[in-house]
Amino acid sequence: MTAKIVVVGSFNADLVSYMERMPRPGETVHGDRFATGAGGKGSNQAVAAARLGADVAFIGRVGNDVFAELAYEIWDAEGVDHRFVTRDDEVATGVAPILVDSSGENMIVVVLGANRRIRQSDIDRARPTIAEADMLIIQLEVNLDMVSYALKAAKEFGVATTLNPAPAAPISRETIHLADYLTPNEIELETLNGGEFDDVVSAARGLLTRGDQTAVVTLGAQGAQIISHSDSILVPTFAVDAVDTTGAGDTFNAALAVGLSEGKALSDAVRFANAAAALCVTKPGAADSVPYRADVDALLLG
Ligand code: RIB
Repeated sequence: MTAKIVVVGSFNADLVSYMERMPRPGETVHGDRFATGAGGKGSNQAVAAARLGADVAFIGRVGNDVFAELAYEIWDAEGVDHRFVTRDDEVATGVAPILVDSSGENMIVVVLGANRRIRQSDIDRARPTIAEADMLIIQLEVNLDMVSYALKAAKEFGVATTLNPAPAAPISRETIHLADYLTPNEIELETLNGGEFDDVVSAARGLLTRGDQTAVVTLGAQGAQIISHSDSILVPTFAVDAVDTTGAGDTFNAALAVGLSEGKALSDAVRFANAAAALCVTKPGAADSVPYRADVDALLLG
């Protein structure tokens, strides 16, 4: 069965510098390499879901500038439906200067630009497509007033929802209530929790407002923890040599949505998502490093 996924979110042109180690404040270091590529959490998730075999529609905004061309290039190449993307004449396409060190860790600054101007009308004109979807995914790299609006639109049609609360920002319990799956990393969990926590399971459980909600907390090299009101399971990930972790969270979220939409059991969908994210970190770039389905299936089969 082909999963039908709608992603509401951001596109950024990623401006990536690779270096031995990150500079400290006030310090200049030499970079080894520079690359420009397609990024943005929303678009990365859309591209990942498409490469993993889903039918994908993307709702978002880009500017009327050269960086937007990177978006259309990758969406067309991967078959992402971009009919619901608006080209905004007044604001530039989002950009993300990114630093990546020799261990593959990154630091990212996001200048949201057009991503901050998604309108209710952008979501409304996609309603017939949302109604047909298996899953709607949204992140927090957009104007935050659209997050609950988009989740509500999906819930009106009984469509499952994933809220990936990235990058970290405080959001209301009412908004979390609209998410069937909440997928923070540990930093995002801390923000949602309102401060440091001792235990991932109780912090995540404290955010769940409905008995049938699930948190899936991504834990980097440890894997991901599935947390519901009654259960908690750690699903370990696959050991790989990390080159660049950019886009791994996006790949995880897309793969989780695809796996669940295809009818996989939750723990199998998380294992599938772990495999996809593990492959993503073995290559440089964001959208460019997202794996294709055959490679993920091969890793799962060992
Ligand atoms: O999650 C990775 C993404 O975060 C990058 O592509 C960058 O654009 C930022 O949005």
